[in-house]
Amino acid sequence: MQHRKLITMDEFTIRETRKFPQATGELSSLLRDIGLAGKIINKQVRRAGLVDILGEHGATNIQGEVQMKLDVFANETLINILKSSPDCAGIASEENDELVAFEDTFSANSKYIVLFDPLDGSSNIDVNAPIGTIFSIYRRVSELGKPCTIEDFLQPGNKLMAAGYILYGSSTMIVYATRIGVNGFTLEPSIGEFCLSHPNLKCPDNGKIYSINQGNWVKYDSSMINYLNYCMENNKEDSRPYSHRYIGSMVADMHRTLIKGGIFIYPADKSSVKGKLRLQYECNPMAFIIEAAGGKAIYGTGNILDIVPTELHERTPIFIGSKNMVSKAIEFVSAKEHVS
Ligand code: AHG
Ligand code: MN
Ligand code: MN
Repeated sequence: MQHRKLITMDEFTIRETRKFPQATGELSSLLRDIGLAGKIINKQVRRAGLVDILGEHGATNIQGEVQMKLDVFANETLINILKSSPDCAGIASEENDELVAFEDTFSANSKYIVLFDPLDGSSNIDVNAPIGTIFSIYRRVSELGKPCTIEDFLQPGNKLMAAGYILYGSSTMIVYATRIGVNGFTLEPSIGEFCLSHPNLKCPDNGKIYSINQGNWVKYDSSMINYLNYCMENNKEDSRPYSHRYIGSMVADMHRTLIKGGIFIYPADKSSVKGKLRLQYECNPMAFIIEAAGGKAIYGTGNILDIVPTELHERTPIFIGSKNMVSKAIEFVSAKEHVS
C-alpha cells in the first residue's frame, strides 16, 4: 500500500484491523462511534466560555432549548451514539448509578460493551483548563442474543480489548490503545477528522515529574510521606529533585505522563481508604494504555489490571507512569506493608 502522510483515525483503525483476518470490523466501527461522540462533545466544550453570553448551562437558550451542563451533555451524547450503534450491547458510565443494557436485536447480538467517564476533570471547565473523556471496551461474557449483564462490566482490566481518552486541550486529541500499541490522533477542525499525529506512543522508562495532590499531605501515611520526601530530595537516580505538576484532570496529567514520562499518583489516605479515582472508568483504561506503551500501573503491591471488580463504581489507589519510577514507588509502599 502506498504511504501517504495524512491518515485519518478511521482509515488507520481499518488498516490495523486488516492485519487480523478473523476480525469482523466491529471494534473499528465502535472506535469510530466513540470518535464521533468526541467530536460532538468537543464542539460543545469549545463554546464553554461563552455560556454567560449565550445563556447559562441549565438556562433556556435563544432557541427555547434547555442547555445542559457539559458533563450531562457528554454523558447523553455517548449514550445516544452507542445506543444507536449496532456494535455496542450496553454501557456503564461514571454518571449513571446502573448500567444501561440496550435491548434492541442488533445491540443484544453485539459482542462489545463500553464503560466511560464522559467528562473527566469537570471542575476545570470554569478555569478553561484541559478536560477529557475516558473510555474502555470489553468483549462481553454474557450470552449473545440477550441483553448484556453486570458480569460483562465486572471484568478485570487485563481483559480489555481497547481503551482510550479524548483530551480537550490546546488541541483536541484521541489516544487509544489495543494490545498491539498506542496511537494518538489530533483533530483537524477544518476537515473534522482525527489525523494520526502520535504513532506508536511509548512511555519513557524514566521521568522527572511527579503528579499528585500534595495538599492532602496531612492525610497520607508514613510510606507516602517518605516517598514524597524522596521525590523532593536530590535523589540518586537524577541527582536533583523531581518537578511537581498537577492539573487536577486525570486525562491531562496522564497525557503528559505518557508523552514525557513521570508518575501520577492518587493514593489511599486517612479519609479515603480506597483512594478517590474509579477503577472501571479512570484507572483501568489508563493502566491499559500505559502498559501498552511500556509503562506500569499498580494499586500498591499488585497491578491495577489484575483487580477483579465487585461493583460498578469501585475506587482504587493508583501509582501509574514510567516503569522505573513506579517500581521505585513500590519500594516505599511495600516497605510500609512489611512494617505493619
Ligand atoms: P471527574 O471530574 O470525572 O469527577 O474526575 C476528577 C478526578 C480526576 O480527573 C483528577 O485526577 C482528580 O479527580 C482530582 O482530584 P483532587 O481534586 O482530589 O486532586
Ligand atoms: Mn474523572
Ligand atoms: Mn467525570
